[in-house]
Amino acid sequence: MKDFSANINKTILTGIQPSGVITLGNYIGAIKQMVKMQDEFKSYLFIADMHAITVGQDPLQLHENIRSLVALYLACGIDPNKNIIFIQSENEYHANISWLLECNTPFGVLSRMTQFKDKSSKNVNFYAGLFTYPVLMAADILAYDVDYVPVGIDQKQHVELARNIAEHFNKKYGKTFKIPDVYITKEGTKIMDLVDPTKKMSKSSKNPKGIIHLLDDPKEIRKKIMGATTDSECEIKFDLEKKPGISNLINICVALTGKDIKDIEQEFQGKNYGEFKKFVADLVLEEMEGIQKRYNDLIHSHVLDEILDENIKITREIAKKKFMLMKEKMGLYR
Ligand code: AMP
Ligand code: TRP
Repeated sequence: MKDFSANINKTILTGIQPSGVITLGNYIGAIKQMVKMQDEFKSYLFIADMHAITVGQDPLQLHENIRSLVALYLACGIDPNKNIIFIQSENEYHANISWLLECNTPFGVLSRMTQFKDKSSKNVNFYAGLFTYPVLMAADILAYDVDYVPVGIDQKQHVELARNIAEHFNKKYGKTFKIPDVYITKEGTKIMDLVDPTKKMSKSSKNPKGIIHLLDDPKEIRKKIMGATTDSECEIKFDLEKKPGISNLINICVALTGKDIKDIEQEFQGKNYGEFKKFVADLVLEEMEGIQKRYNDLIHSHVLDEILDENIKITREIAKKKFMLMKEKMGLYR
């Protein structure tokens, strides 16, 4: 049974695109926040694989990323008893609802979406899906009558569009959708690149030494942290401007231990960078080894399939009801 005891009355929903391998930056900056939120809300969390195909994807790679991402989220502490975690493309009602919404969304509004303008200007050969992407996102949201949609600031405009589409539909056909609110997730601690600590640690970074993937070999992780760029002083002190490397390592400690910056500085007063790096490496490895163990147990396990099978049934039922209601309102029946 699902346990939504805490804030049972408020619902959140968010989608994550299955692109690339998650980094320590994603984990600290985003996933840890989601793990916290699951105690406060009834939560829907899905892998937005149909959004991913709006740009070119290698089918085999996409297939692997989808399953791997579910396993990783669970391994990172997303609790299947507190979240309905599912795969978007396994629920055909998202696309069905999206079509009905597309027929109620002005072309002009879609052509003003910043992300579309941005992405289409970089590539002349883009597909129609890139243009209608925000309507599919509105369908994801409106199908479930959710209260809040936690997203980064880059997705704010899309959630506002979902609100507008819902308001317009309600006005035209009678109350059909709950109007969702955007919930801008404040940027968690920004984790920087280990080689160039003035740059964000990013999946797409060219130098693998600067990024830690959650599934990296533990020996590699230790090597990367021990090799992290620091400075020519020998003081463990937080100073983003003058000591970005050390400050980044302190931030990682703070995020993983829950201690304050001051505590860490005090603990390492008079110690050298080597000792501090070893401490950070041990800390990260302890966390990663737990995640990797849970990931390895899950990735080929039927438990993962059982969770997804159960959840897709729940979400198909909810979204089907909404689709049928929309059809009725729009006159699509015999
Ligand atoms: P992205 O990997 O850019 O798609 O981002 C996915 C989520 O992870 C967003 O909420 C980002 O803010 C967060 N994130 C990505 N990279 C970092 C980083 N280096 N430090 C902290 N948060 C990050
Ligand atoms: N478009 C979002 C992104 O690229 C992912 C997404 C798809 C989403 N559907 C959603 C987020 C619904 C929130 C709600 O990050």
